Amino acid sequence: MEEDKEVERKYKETIQEIEKRMKEGRLKPGDRLPSIRQLSKELQCSVNTVIKAYDELEKMHRIYSVPKSGYFMVGSNQSKSPSSLEKIDFSAAGPDLSQMPYRDFQHCMNQAIERYKEEMFHYSEPLGLASLRKQLSKQLQDVQVFAPPERICVVSGSQQALDLLLSIPFPNGKEEICTEQPTHPSFIQSLTNRKLLVHGIERTKNGIDWNYLEKIFQEKDTKLFYTVSRFQNPTGYSYTNDEKKKIVELAQKYDVYIIEDDYMGDLDTTRKADPMYAYDPSGRVIYTKSFSKVLLPGLRLGVAVLPEALLDSFANAKFAADVHTPVITQGALEIYLQSGMYQAHIEKLRQQYKHKGILLRDAYEKYLPKEASFTSGDSGFYSTIELPKRIKGKQLVDYLFHKYVLVQDAATMYLPTYRQENRIRLSVSQVNDKNIPIGIEKISQAIQELLVKKW
Ligand SMILES: Cc1ncc(COP(=O)(O)O)c(C=O)c1O
Repeated sequence: MEEDKEVERKYKETIQEIEKRMKEGRLKPGDRLPSIRQLSKELQCSVNTVIKAYDELEKMHRIYSVPKSGYFMVGSNQSKSPSSLEKIDFSAAGPDLSQMPYRDFQHCMNQAIERYKEEMFHYSEPLGLASLRKQLSKQLQDVQVFAPPERICVVSGSQQALDLLLSIPFPNGKEEICTEQPTHPSFIQSLTNRKLLVHGIERTKNGIDWNYLEKIFQEKDTKLFYTVSRFQNPTGYSYTNDEKKKIVELAQKYDVYIIEDDYMGDLDTTRKADPMYAYDPSGRVIYTKSFSKVLLPGLRLGVAVLPEALLDSFANAKFAADVHTPVITQGALEIYLQSGMYQAHIEKLRQQYKHKGILLRDAYEKYLPKEASFTSGDSGFYSTIELPKRIKGKQLVDYLFHKYVLVQDAATMYLPTYRQENRIRLSVSQVNDKNIPIGIEKISQAIQELLVKKW
């Protein structure tokens, strides 16, 4: 009994000590905490006491753990500059690690195992758990997508929906695909695998060429137009409401379907922004959404909202692909949505990405040499740099690698006939705030160095 009290006292003291260090500024946002062993020695307590204290601080979202790296303070570090060996990683396209609700989701997973244990003894429905689809129907209303649960399909990542939609016949009986250029590289991979005839249309800061889009819709055997309406991957661009309306009108006029990939629609801070889906009375817009950027990509959870006419063939294709998305992760998402945790999490993320977007734009404007230009949107999740023609993206990627800055060559984000070799893609998602300007300055310097280099 006495022993238990002593353990409890030590554990509380350990938490208080960490909190004191935070208050005094000895531990700042982004800092690594002392290792468990180091702190147990310093405070003369057991390793288990420190583990328990860190666990509690993690539950309170004051700190977070990174496997094999240790524990870190939540938030961005504004005051320190990176050590010469610290990588600045603009190439990672996953969500911000420090903002992921691991603990909350863990509780939802545990509850889901309890709630859905019976369901695991047999196969479930191809289009997803009825109770989750009901929740999703409510949640989608927040982004102006009004659809009954019967037309909502849970998929194993939204990429699965994109791939399956390419495989099934559509009521318009057409076969060719139209896609923005550049675009989401996994969609290009699906097109390549299926050997489909594809027409590209350039997406620029001025939107798209309306005459050319109409020509593709009118003169080609266009089955569908694939578009990422907000925070496009890789350009970061979003369409205005008027542009979205116009695309939907053209699709209706020429009997073309639209896949509206709204993978990050939740992060939009423009209150009046609607998805294309909202302008589509004819049922030609197929709406897809991902939980990978705002939750955890490893969950493989996405959604497709389908027109009535496609429901059966899509359900058959989904059944043939993987029978259904795993029940436990579906159940956990349902509980996460139902409890209001998702909404609270999204509101935090929205502001955070908006802030990152501003830092990125300011840094581009300050540092990028006049020979280069950038594309970006409100969130900064994705953006691209167009390099002077003589510098290839691949070359800059390799050059920056040795300076501990990681970026991605955007060449794979183009169809072969539209391929541009002088673009790189950046994501600020896993870069902390203070490193955004530092990283952009380094990239800008590297561009200048390569420009004057003799080959
Ligand atoms: C535009 C776009 N759509 C869809 C996806 C795929 O998301 P998911 O992980 O849900 O398959 C991504 C992933 O990066 C993406 O960039």
